Amino acid sequence: MKVSAFYRFFVIFLHPILTTMRIDIITVLPELLGSPFGYSIVQRAQKKGLAEVIVHDLRQFGKGNYRQIDDYGFGGDAGMILMVEPLYNIITSLQRERTYDEVIFLTPDGELFSQHLANRLSCLQNLILLCGHYKGIDHRIREHLITKEISIGDYVLSGGELAAAVLTDAIVRLLPGVLSDETSALSDSFQDGLLAPPIYSRPAEFNGWQVPQVLLSGNPKIIKAWQEEQAIERTKRLRPHLLPPDQ
Ligand code: 6GU
Repeated sequence: MKVSAFYRFFVIFLHPILTTMRIDIITVLPELLGSPFGYSIVQRAQKKGLAEVIVHDLRQFGKGNYRQIDDYGFGGDAGMILMVEPLYNIITSLQRERTYDEVIFLTPDGELFSQHLANRLSCLQNLILLCGHYKGIDHRIREHLITKEISIGDYVLSGGELAAAVLTDAIVRLLPGVLSDETSALSDSFQDGLLAPPIYSRPAEFNGWQVPQVLLSGNPKIIKAWQEEQAIERTKRLRPHLLPPDQ
């Protein structure tokens, strides 16, 4: 079958521009996620229609008159566990609406989040982020419905909400069209595997503190060389593991 020129144009050029990334966050504390997405870059991305972040209250899917969502664990360990049924119902009800590329559980024992992982996730279309709470979630959800588990670092948070906010911010700012040229993600720390060089603004001297002379030279070639050298020096000193073994 001959693929029409329009179809090819659509797939290659228009589709990535017209599609909206959708992130559904499931939490027992929706209030905690009220503000992180209402400001700055994530807000701008939503206003431009490039991303949609929707927070769902697990309690709405709770069992019985009390909308129960947690229960004691088998085995006698103290502490509440998010029950299998409300989690199953909320996830599958979302999945009936659309196909999700990943159903992600935020947990300290997940894969460590990184810029590399943010880049990969930013290429997807529909994500579910499930925030754990209390002692965690019934393990059957992890075995049967979760497709990826992510941690934001080796320390323990009270719940997955702040981690979900971190992931959402890191992913959404990478979507094409979200950042303007001057704030381009391409000049970020980590994006080229290096930390960013120091930056300065006017005045050139404040309180006797000088901006490095080279930045005032007006010579873009020399400035770029200095910035690169600084980026490498800072990376060597502060994050040596980011450098390839031969540097
Ligand atoms: Cl994703 N969740 C929790 N509860 N603690 C964490 C984490 C996630 N990442 C690091 N610590």
